[in-house]
Amino acid sequence: MLIRSPNEIPASQITAESVYCKRRELLRGLGIAGLGLSGLGQPALADSAQTLSDIKRPSPYDTDEALTTFDDVTTYNNYYEFGTGKSDPAKYAVNFQPKPWTLQVSGQVENSGSFDLDDFIAPHQLEERIYRMRCVEAWSMVIPWVGIPLAKVIEACKPTSNAKYVAFIGLHDRQRMPGQRFAVLDWPYREGLRMDEAMHPLSMLVVGVYGRVLPNQNGAPLRLIVPWKYGFKGIKGIAGIHFSENQPATSWNLSAPNEYGFYANVNPNVDHPRWSQASERRLSGNGFGRLFAGRIDTHPFNGYAEQVAHLYSDLDLAKHF
Ligand code: MTE
Repeated sequence: MLIRSPNEIPASQITAESVYCKRRELLRGLGIAGLGLSGLGQPALADSAQTLSDIKRPSPYDTDEALTTFDDVTTYNNYYEFGTGKSDPAKYAVNFQPKPWTLQVSGQVENSGSFDLDDFIAPHQLEERIYRMRCVEAWSMVIPWVGIPLAKVIEACKPTSNAKYVAFIGLHDRQRMPGQRFAVLDWPYREGLRMDEAMHPLSMLVVGVYGRVLPNQNGAPLRLIVPWKYGFKGIKGIAGIHFSENQPATSWNLSAPNEYGFYANVNPNVDHPRWSQASERRLSGNGFGRLFAGRIDTHPFNGYAEQVAHLYSDLDLAKHF
């Protein structure tokens, strides 16, 4: 093992004292005393067999609808960084290495800086939430996610009073994410929430599914889940969190503003310009099962209206879609 003396270490690799102190403060805020996260963020399929222990369950937000199978959840995906076909992410993200992973916290926040993901989420904090998920393409699944409330992380970052929005930025790396060599979106993938949406107890940062480490195709090592919004809000492979005073740009809104708004709340009364949003295909099984999945009604806010409708009482949801 090569041990370098301090004067051989480039200045860029020395952590400034102020950054070190902020890091300690952030860890304290998260209730983590420098715990390692062994087991999280390992590479795809083989490692997603790895189970996470000590997960807090059940949650008061769980739906009791039938779960979508692990096979469906991990083979029918949208993750354009690895191709635009539904089966592409499972195929082409298989060798993606999601660990180590650095998260950049920036903007209107006291604890800004670069942090190792292991400092953000420790195993003893994990919770399982069984959420209904509704894609803008009018299919849906019921998925047992594992993660922590987004509010916990935001509180530990200490946003300033100017922070009105929080933006999430995906990893930008054409080598590791071959789909970024194509201009299907303006890379990196970006999403955002209003601060009150982000602080809502349903919003989660997710590191696992079905009690296992999150597979690459589902967004390892870290993704967002906001169950009352269309699935595209659930950004995968998060590398940055930015707090801002103004509404941040989001990928699908940049790409087709007349089709995808900032809010993206599931709403059966506001159709996508090219198809109805009144009903959805609940996916189960592959092949024919998937093709002929039964259609069910879509509910306002994806069935979470009781919990979240009040956040939008002042908004015209047809205009702010
Ligand atoms: N995140 C990134 N980085 N890139 C993407 O292409 N697709 C979104 C979202 N998150 C996407 C993303 C869309 S359109 C959907 S429907 C969900 O991921 C799908 O999540 P799942 O494959 O885990 O079901």
